[in-house]
Amino acid sequence: MRPGDRGSPYTAYFSALNRELKAHGPMRPVMLIDLDLLDHNIDLVTQSVGRAGKHLRLVEKSLPSPGLLAYITKRANTQRLMSFHQPFLNHDALTFPESDILIGKPLPARSAEVFYQTHRGSFDPSRQLQWLIDTPQRLTEYLALAEGLGARIRVNIELDVGLHRGGIADDAMLGKMLSLISEHPQHLEFSGFMGYDPFVGMGVPGVLGSPQDLFDKVMVIYNARVNYVRQRFPALWRDGLTLNTAGSPSYGMHEQERLSSEVSVGTAFLKPTHYDLPSLVEHVPAAFIATPVLKSTGAVEYPALDDRSRLFSWWNPNQRATFFIYGGNWMAEFESPKGLESNELYGRSSNQEMVNGSPAVCLNVEDQVFLRPTQTEFVLLQFGDLLGVRGGKIVETWPVYDNV
Ligand SMILES: Cc1ncc(COP(=O)(O)O)c(C=O)c1O
Repeated sequence: MRPGDRGSPYTAYFSALNRELKAHGPMRPVMLIDLDLLDHNIDLVTQSVGRAGKHLRLVEKSLPSPGLLAYITKRANTQRLMSFHQPFLNHDALTFPESDILIGKPLPARSAEVFYQTHRGSFDPSRQLQWLIDTPQRLTEYLALAEGLGARIRVNIELDVGLHRGGIADDAMLGKMLSLISEHPQHLEFSGFMGYDPFVGMGVPGVLGSPQDLFDKVMVIYNARVNYVRQRFPALWRDGLTLNTAGSPSYGMHEQERLSSEVSVGTAFLKPTHYDLPSLVEHVPAAFIATPVLKSTGAVEYPALDDRSRLFSWWNPNQRATFFIYGGNWMAEFESPKGLESNELYGRSSNQEMVNGSPAVCLNVEDQVFLRPTQTEFVLLQFGDLLGVRGGKIVETWPVYDNV
């Protein structure tokens, strides 16, 4: 029952990063993006969308740094972005004036109005922006907005393809929305569908269906909605509509179908721990938190227990070394050196967190602890500028959306 020694020192990869950060880093918590590993992930995605004959849309919220986004748009050769947040959207319109932006969730009409009020630059929303609309009620509100602006807005309709996060679930509701669009051609333009299906690649219990079964059901629903438009509203149908689908967990499965015109991918480029999925086995983790060890205090000691704390380190070799790191308590998992753990009994801290391990981790004060974020969209915003590294050297500094 006694825990084994789970500790081991840095690999050569993290040893090199530790040296670089000690010599050239800011010696505070930072988010590293490994550009060599990112390139590998970009190439996997572009090869897949190439085989699928589709376009790629980058999920901006999952890659929330204009510099990072610009890097991926260039290597992946795409101008398509999916945005989820009005302030980021205004920023995208300025920074990526040639982009084609699809909103990824239905924003309140007032929020859309704020976008128009603050929009500057050459990005033309009537050609380059698609709002996502989920109900006839919201469509009516956007129609009023378009009338007020004296503008024509593009409407992409959210489909419920099985996620059950809202969106159109039947033809009757779709019919109402398409009728409203047909009746107001000067203010509304139908631009396509968005059907998001992460559950096909997230791994649901087998009894609920294999990924293939779930995928097939998604496509039956998507096909039915497309056929409905073609048959009932042929005047709204045209080649070049945005038939968006997928997300990181499911994009690869869409190589099987030719109905959708594009897949959205964001998080898979960086592969945080929650994306350690069978569908993404070829992807590699490319984002790491690095933070310096501030103090090294030996065997674990708890307040009030004092000397009696020794029982813990006597029993568990992974409590024989104690480090206090700069910051902590992030949505992240320890990566290197191996065998580090936070200490729930002592308590978590965002200021200087206790981390335990065995002496085999070979960590000293001012060495770095490396972690992998569990997700990207929020965690990437918590460290100030992202540091791009290549071959173990810091080569880029990219502001994130919070302080651009
Ligand atoms: C509509 C939509 N499409 C695609 C994605 C995929 O994003 P990611 O690839 O970062 O998982 C998301 C994520 O929330 C989404 O809401």
